[in-house]
Amino acid sequence: MKYPKEYLEEIKTRLKVSTVVSKTVSLKKRGKEFIGLSPFKTEKTPSFTVNDEKGFYHCFSTSEHGNIFDFIMKTQNLRFGEAVKYLANLAGMQPYTFTKKDEERENQWKEYSEIFKIYVDFCHNELLKNNDLIFVKEYLKKRNLTKEEVVKFNIGYVQPNNSFVRELESRFNQKSLLETGLFYLDEKRKVLIERFKERVIFPINSITGYPIALGGRKIKENNNFAKYINSPETPFFKKGSNLYNLDFARKFSNKIDYIYLVEGYMDVVSLSNKGIYNTVANLGTSLTEKQMSILNQFYDDIVICFDGDESGYKAALRAAESLIQELKPEKNISFLFLPDKEDPDSFVNKHGKDYFIDFTKTNKVLINNFIFQHYKNKAKDNPSSLAIFEKTVRSIANSIKDEFIKKYVLEDYLEKIHNLTPNTNERKYKFKPKARSLKSTQKFFNETKNLSYIEIKEYSFLYIVINNLTLLKENLSLIQNVKLFSTENKLIFESILGKLFKEEDITLEKLSLDQNIIEKITKFASIKYVLNKVEDNNEEKIELLNEIIRDIKNYELEIRIEELESKFSKDFNESTFNEIKELKKLQKIN
Ligand code: UTP
Ligand code: MN
Repeated sequence: MKYPKEYLEEIKTRLKVSTVVSKTVSLKKRGKEFIGLSPFKTEKTPSFTVNDEKGFYHCFSTSEHGNIFDFIMKTQNLRFGEAVKYLANLAGMQPYTFTKKDEERENQWKEYSEIFKIYVDFCHNELLKNNDLIFVKEYLKKRNLTKEEVVKFNIGYVQPNNSFVRELESRFNQKSLLETGLFYLDEKRKVLIERFKERVIFPINSITGYPIALGGRKIKENNNFAKYINSPETPFFKKGSNLYNLDFARKFSNKIDYIYLVEGYMDVVSLSNKGIYNTVANLGTSLTEKQMSILNQFYDDIVICFDGDESGYKAALRAAESLIQELKPEKNISFLFLPDKEDPDSFVNKHGKDYFIDFTKTNKVLINNFIFQHYKNKAKDNPSSLAIFEKTVRSIANSIKDEFIKKYVLEDYLEKIHNLTPNTNERKYKFKPKARSLKSTQKFFNETKNLSYIEIKEYSFLYIVINNLTLLKENLSLIQNVKLFSTENKLIFESILGKLFKEEDITLEKLSLDQNIIEKITKFASIKYVLNKVEDNNEEKIELLNEIIRDIKNYELEIRIEELESKFSKDFNESTFNEIKELKKLQKIN
């Protein structure tokens, strides 16, 4: 059941994130934030921060991020509803009582999902076990599907089987059965008729994995029935809000960073058969903003791959012109065009997984480039046609809702047009990149408060170094490539490194560091508490050091990624995009 927004907001206003988190994580105040050891990972230096003002927590070592509900769900492995109950109690609020209408709907859902489950399982088991259905199995085999896909996708076959329908009628009332859309009523005879009779059925699951609708393909070629039919809209199935295979595909989002959006059930199933699991299909309707935003919850990059024929191209163009309006920062939509007469199903069956993925890498085009290229190709080389071309792409760019994306897409289009007309267009459409100042340098002189995350890491790093000079002289390779961010720390570290290379018997005195600097390092190095505990265990010390070095490296990657992302939002350049991907991968490895 859905909680009203006000109730959830009330919980949030009553409970600070730090209050909730500090039940399980010990937090220390640091400036406006709190800091502690990550609950998502065993670590020795704190990288977990809580910001009450903004209402969220962020873990730098795992990138976990969220509000109080997320925190409870993740750390206590609760479902949303359970987390709400737990937090409402903590906030001293009454548990939410749903209205009678909510309860009715909940009961209606229970019945709906039960009927669906029974129906789908029955048709699936019949397909697997009933010898009369060998011809269906033959059909699926001919289409390269194995038992594995039949089982994974719970594929079934609907025989005209009155006894099964009568059995359902004895357990559920007719109204409930009709509400599922699995049947329609023969008005004259007052009996239920199976909508998907004599079809292979592909259950469409809700995001949490319950079957809520069906797609059905006829397998006899010689009749006039539609090749596919889909469930009608029901109280629990809205076409523009669901996607086939989303419940499986969303689980791959931490392994693969893009998702394929294809047209057909068979495309999804065949791609899965070849080992490509990050795929959903849009159920034979045009793509909706809702579907895209659901996908964006899990994937930042959506690759739309429609059939390689004229209708696939037209559908792609229609989708592009509508979806570009909703383009958001950090999200990408690309289009992948297959050779003529191919669909993802036929293409992957012909060439296999690796080829399909390579083909994607080299052939996908970003949505804004696709639109530009389409209209440019259409334009003839005469002033009137070119004028229409420019007007069209300008107005498409102007339809983008996000002001920043709009600015950059328009800029990109105008620059391309400018290059087409070098003599008339004097203006240069260029933005100067804004100089980016590091947090650490901004805040450096603000000694006692608001130290940035990276500074604390750097002080910890320097602290280990100056207190273990002999150990590090023997292990110079560990630290010689470390790059610090704050100017002062960088200089200090360079001078230490120089001495470590030169001096035979290195001591703290020989570094001849300013006493103030030593004090500052000692004061701010949060690692010292942990380090004191490991005392003379060199291995543990080196492990601690490596952990800090990893964090510093990751920070460097993060900065680089941010720079590239801001560059990318201007040039939409594929190579920038690929570089970002590579860096993100590195970040994951670290
Ligand atoms: P296609 O006609 O491209 O079918 O329809 P396909 O996926 O290649 O199927 P096979 O390979 O012939 O089995 C793509 C999608 O459009 C919807 C379905 O969702 C289908 O998966 N569609 C198609 C319908 O809803 N009705 C139809 O009659 C045809
Ligand atoms: Mn096909």
